[in-house]
Amino acid sequence: MSTPPRTLVVFHSRTGHTRQIGRLVATKLGADVEEITLPARAGTPSYARCALGALLRCADEVKAARHDPAAYDLVLVGTPVWFWSLPAPVRGWLEAHPLGGAQVAFFCTMGGSGAARVFAQMRGVCGKRPRATLALTEAQVAAGPQAAIDAFVARLSGLRGATARPAARRTRAEAAEAASAPTARAGKRRRAHSQDARSATG
Ligand SMILES: Cc1cc2nc3c(=O)[nH]c(=O)nc-3n(C[C@H](O)[C@H](O)[C@H](O)COP(=O)(O)O)c2cc1C
Repeated sequence: MSTPPRTLVVFHSRTGHTRQIGRLVATKLGADVEEITLPARAGTPSYARCALGALLRCADEVKAARHDPAAYDLVLVGTPVWFWSLPAPVRGWLEAHPLGGAQVAFFCTMGGSGAARVFAQMRGVCGKRPRATLALTEAQVAAGPQAAIDAFVARLSGLRGATARPAARRTRAEAAEAASAPTARAGKRRRAHSQDARSATG
């Protein structure tokens, strides 16, 4: 008989959307939950600080995890999209917590666009190809995300527990992302909507 996979759902959330999805996903999977939070001394970062940190590829210092992600078979990492980029708290958590042999899946919430870029950045930082991804707009979260979550979770089925797997090989772009120091690449991007608003991609 196969062992069920040990599963951890990790997320950061500033205004609650990603937390809502993370909790629903965790309930569906019977997973442990880890919220990525900043140390109390950091206070509540302003919108501008969040935007700049993401754009400059900063990695925030985050509170130490209660769960060791490397002890799990599957780690799902959830994030908001900030300026088409990975938020600094999530980058900081991924950099500080090696995932060992765990497989990964990613999910995000957003106003309307940026998911593909954020998933590429996550893949670059943790060096693993996600088994599945889920991107939801705020409107989709408000309208009821359960069907999308069910489809996402269905894509994760078939994973057995207690199996160490080698990390997936990185593409050149991902290796560059992993190696890159924080740089200013703000560029002039206008907020295009919808093209990334899809669910259960990956
Ligand atoms: C600093 C900042 C930058 C954002 N940039 C984007 C963006 O580039 N694209 C987008 O679709 N939404 C953007 N948003 C909207 C959030 O991604 C969206 O509200 C998300 O659901 C927030 O998740 P949370 O409630 O878990 O914090 C941004 C929000 C913030 C605070």
